[in-house]
Amino acid sequence: MKKFGGAWSQSKLDCVERYALAYLQVMQKQTWCRLDYVDAFAGRGKQALKTTGTSTEPGDFFGDASDRVETEEFLVGSAIRALIASEASARSFDRFHFIEADQSSCDELQSLVAEAFTASAGCVQVVCGDANGALRDYISSVDWAKTRTLVFLDPYGLEVDWVLVEELAATHACDVWYLFPLGGVIRMMTNDGQIPDLWSQHLDELFGTHDWRDEFYKPSPQQSLFESDDPELLKDASTQHVVEYIRTRLSTVFAAVSDAAVLRNSKGAPLFALVLGVSNPSPAAQKAALAIANHLVKDLSQP
Ligand SMILES: C[S@@+](CC[C@H](N)C(=O)[O-])C[C@H]1O[C@@H](n2cnc3c(N)ncnc32)[C@H](O)[C@@H]1O
Repeated sequence: MKKFGGAWSQSKLDCVERYALAYLQVMQKQTWCRLDYVDAFAGRGKQALKTTGTSTEPGDFFGDASDRVETEEFLVGSAIRALIASEASARSFDRFHFIEADQSSCDELQSLVAEAFTASAGCVQVVCGDANGALRDYISSVDWAKTRTLVFLDPYGLEVDWVLVEELAATHACDVWYLFPLGGVIRMMTNDGQIPDLWSQHLDELFGTHDWRDEFYKPSPQQSLFESDDPELLKDASTQHVVEYIRTRLSTVFAAVSDAAVLRNSKGAPLFALVLGVSNPSPAAQKAALAIANHLVKDLSQP
């Protein structure tokens, strides 16, 4: 099992779970619509942490905790947390759409759901495939006049295409938590601006524009324009600058965008930014969503 995570991993999962609980509460009386939860990088239902020792797992449905203490520590994953939140709420999600590229993870997730969530299992669809394609299929299959959806995009890196973000925003019915790969992006933007073509193409697909180049690289003021055809570039891609840039990009397609939480590793290096895009055009819906999201983000933001 691939191991990853740490405090930041727990924080992001707690944040999305707490938002799901609040979302279900807010939507409690909205019986005119179907409520969906979509996890586009669903994983296997649990994450093996790098540490060992006493389990801090919030649930107990993975068996006896004493079995795990000598082996590995697990975190309950986002898909399972959505099911727990749903079963604990007065208004549940009507459908769960879990997308995952890895077949063995899909199989494990499917088994967990069947074993531990008998009440919800009939509403769960596990789709094995690429998030971009499978989510697009989902978007085109839904009647958006009668559906509201909470989406979690939790990639390892730069897997989310901007086109997908645009399509989610265009539904006018999705709240989208996006774990943006801040650390990867900052690392790909080399100090001298000599970025391999493939990386540059990946960044274009992530941001949906090539403008990031002018945003994060400026010609050095020390150099005369006539000195060289290939002017020296100065990189200006601080964590805060990249965070504000992706929030601005998201604001071009979403009706409202929350503050972003910067998630860092134990050495303080930025890894991800967690941010919510709200596509609902209703000001009241945006206000409610942002109030909850900004409160959650403030709690977990590391300066
Ligand atoms: C950061 S993990 C997600 C963890 C999950 N949200 C959880 O809480 O357990 C990323 C997951 O995305 C899957 N993945 C990677 N690339 C993918 C893609 N293009 N489409 C769908 N899933 C993908 C990986 O197999 C991995 O399980």
